[in-house]
Amino acid sequence: MKKLIVVLVFFLFSGSLFAQDSNNEEKKAFIDNLLSKMTIKEKVGQLRLISVGGDLTLPKVLDQIEAGEIGGIFNTVVEPDLTNMQDRALKSPNKIPLFFGFDIIHGHRTVFPVNLGVASSWDRNVIGKVAEVSADEATSDGLNITWAPMVDITRDPRWGRVSEGFGEDPYLTSEAGRIFVEKMQKQSLDDKKSLVTTVKHFALYGAVEAGREYNSTDMSERKMFQEYLVPYKAAIDAGSRAVMVSLVSVNGIPATANHWLLTEVLRDQWHFNGVVVSDHGAIRELINHGVASDAKDAVRVAIKAGIDISMNDEYFLQFLPELVNEGVLTEEDINKACRHVLELKYDMGLFNDPHRNLDPKLDIDTMFADNRLHREEARDVARRSIVLLKNKNSILPLAKNKKIAVIGPLADSKRDILGSWSGAGRANLAVTPLEGIKNAVKDPKTISYAFGANLSDDSNLYKFLNLYEETTKFDPRPADKMIAEAVAKAKKADVVVLFVGEAEGMAHESSSRTDLSLQASQKRLIKALKATGKPLVIALMNGRPLTVKEEYEQADAMLETWFLGTEGGNAIADVLFGDYNPSAKLPMSFPDNVGQIPVYYSHLNTGRPHGTENMGKYTTSYFDSPNEPLFPFGFGLSYTHFTIDFALSSTEMPQNGEIVVTANVENIGEKEGSQTVQFYLQDITASVSRPVKQLIGFENITLKPHEKGEVKLVIKPDMLKFWNDKMQYVAEPGKFNIYVGSDSTTQDKQTFTLLDK
Ligand code: BGC
Repeated sequence: MKKLIVVLVFFLFSGSLFAQDSNNEEKKAFIDNLLSKMTIKEKVGQLRLISVGGDLTLPKVLDQIEAGEIGGIFNTVVEPDLTNMQDRALKSPNKIPLFFGFDIIHGHRTVFPVNLGVASSWDRNVIGKVAEVSADEATSDGLNITWAPMVDITRDPRWGRVSEGFGEDPYLTSEAGRIFVEKMQKQSLDDKKSLVTTVKHFALYGAVEAGREYNSTDMSERKMFQEYLVPYKAAIDAGSRAVMVSLVSVNGIPATANHWLLTEVLRDQWHFNGVVVSDHGAIRELINHGVASDAKDAVRVAIKAGIDISMNDEYFLQFLPELVNEGVLTEEDINKACRHVLELKYDMGLFNDPHRNLDPKLDIDTMFADNRLHREEARDVARRSIVLLKNKNSILPLAKNKKIAVIGPLADSKRDILGSWSGAGRANLAVTPLEGIKNAVKDPKTISYAFGANLSDDSNLYKFLNLYEETTKFDPRPADKMIAEAVAKAKKADVVVLFVGEAEGMAHESSSRTDLSLQASQKRLIKALKATGKPLVIALMNGRPLTVKEEYEQADAMLETWFLGTEGGNAIADVLFGDYNPSAKLPMSFPDNVGQIPVYYSHLNTGRPHGTENMGKYTTSYFDSPNEPLFPFGFGLSYTHFTIDFALSSTEMPQNGEIVVTANVENIGEKEGSQTVQFYLQDITASVSRPVKQLIGFENITLKPHEKGEVKLVIKPDMLKFWNDKMQYVAEPGKFNIYVGSDSTTQDKQTFTLLDK
């Protein structure tokens, strides 16, 4: 019987291999044939990704499409326009269909929390839900490809784009990246609901020096391979069919011009065989970077490095044919890039069904009205993304019959709660905190509201935020009048719930900051409200870790609500009133002060560790600041309490063995709640210094009051691997510590030994 199964499995397996091979052969023959008929200009056309706008009006773009000069369109979500474009592409000489792309970063029509918030859920199902719903709505909109997931490791909250990623940790970010790819692309690209992912920004965009947007990055190869490159690789291993290249320079060579990165690492070492897309305008920027003398030279440098597609192309069409004619580039250089694009289109099924998911009759309003289920899912994801940072005297949850003064510049802002990169969402459909709180209580008349203060006193900040469209309104009333109104409302209430933080435009591309504290206008408001003596709940709304030590001390309770998306207000109410018991954990350390940055949990030890012997002088420390962040990575409270203890199945691991870590969790409080058990590893002695702790696993468990449960992690030698002193990826025999707990500061550890054999 066993033999029969083996034989059957063999046939089934070899059968599917055969099907795959013949499919690959068909694909190759199809593309060879196509390439043999295409002119060089048409081939270059496939490498051009264009967005309608500026000089490139819709009629001009349509003409270029029909001439076979455009391969893909991005930033259009109007179905009749997309249909029209595809019709014109089918009139081009070789009738090659277009693909349609869009930034779907945290939801599409239904907007989910910004990814830093989604990462706070530490919940694989939650992350998967965001990706699945996003792909569902995007494909219904006729889109085929997205510029996501963004998996840049971020350890510098001065950088505005930290909100788009999943935080400081390689493992958590890799998990999120992998799940996005699996749930968006699905098993097969010709699944109609499959949305091709473009993992970005390859590489190291999150490590820009001083957190300043577009600045350079410089990092040892060890740190790159050990930490920063890990999430891109995870997304590629999960099958992401496209990669977007970062705008920054990596160890002195701009990523867009970086042959080592785009060809040696990405293609040769990682065997990536999809499409490499430049970022917006990146080809031209090579001149400013100082690695290309002019536009034509920039095109040469980019193609030679390994770029396939030029996003918002200005120069490929102009210069690539010329460069081939002059013999500077070969036609094979162009064929190679073009083949990557055609293969992707083939696998998407576009040659068979160019109009897939395009329904020119689709009415966007109906689509919005129909996505009630998605809104419920968005609400659930949002409440699972809210981090409880403080809860003195268990002031939260609030009773629903309390008189609540809801105050603050962000309490009733529909635009801000969506967060940045929410272009296809609709602010008018978003639920603000004020609305959510009113929806939740029995009598909305118990809720009063005051704006309280402008987000900032700084008119330059408003100019910056409203440069292209007015997103952040300035209330011209005198500041003390607004504060007086808020104080009057607070005095009549039982409790104040205050919404402060950032406008969505402050946590976006090109929004780096050096000061991470709340704006002076908001600080004045908090001080005045504190002086009323009323219990004060501060709900932060922001897209990055802020320095909020003072506010932490002033607040009775504090919540990090990020930018929660369409259903944000309802989700906040769920947590405030205890309809959901908060379970989220920070995916990024919150610095005590800006001077500590970068502050992250998985740092190396030094020869003179702080806080052991010789406290104070001659240890690694500041004389004017603690070393520790205000809130550590992995931190988040609940309305209940848990205990965690754990055991190892053995204290020795053979080379082909494993150790099972069993964590016993008990809810010792009076409310049902979820805990995320976090597993950290420390390689105590190795050929290179290893981090004091490194996250290697996490599991969620939901327990009723006084209920006990367990979660397990299986550790295998592969999980102990790192880049050693010779840059080999190995696990070195020796002693390891395993730490288990509810955040990265856990000191609860056990030791095991990896044996030589
Ligand atoms: C951003 C990318 C984005 C692209 C297209 C660029 O400015 O860096 O992340 O995908 O624009 O919108």
